[in-house]
Amino acid sequence: MAKISEAALRRLEKAARSAARCAYAPYSHFPVGAAVLGKTGRVYAGCNVENASYGLCTCAERTAICSAVAAGERSIKAVAVYTPTPLPTAPCGACRQVIHEFGAETLVFSFCDSKTRIDTRISALLPAAFGPGDLA
Ligand code: THU
Repeated sequence: MAKISEAALRRLEKAARSAARCAYAPYSHFPVGAAVLGKTGRVYAGCNVENASYGLCTCAERTAICSAVAAGERSIKAVAVYTPTPLPTAPCGACRQVIHEFGAETLVFSFCDSKTRIDTRISALLPAAFGPGDLA
């Protein structure tokens, strides 16, 4: 089972918490931050970006992943998400599918306003996923 170092996890947590400050969430008032650790070791941050046409809102996780892919990453080791909640929350279904695209064993960490944390992996959050291999 792949793991990341405590230092890498701290970097991800910091980037996710900080990205939430850039959230554009005038409708939900629910600022979310995310950070992705690419295979190269680089970290990419993202926040949720909402829209007056509500269905076009993009989650923080997908913003971070798009940024990583646009920088040339094709494999993602870990994703951290921060929500301003008393308990941590796991990524939504759409984000699970997008995380899975770039790593069937990607680690997922959820942080919040308490010390409680979720440590899991995408294979647990999205079992029996449809993925790139199914199109072969
Ligand atoms: N949101 C995220 O950015 N990530 C999640 O994991 C859950 C939900 C955003 C979408 C929307 O802008 C707001 O939070 C409320 O659902």
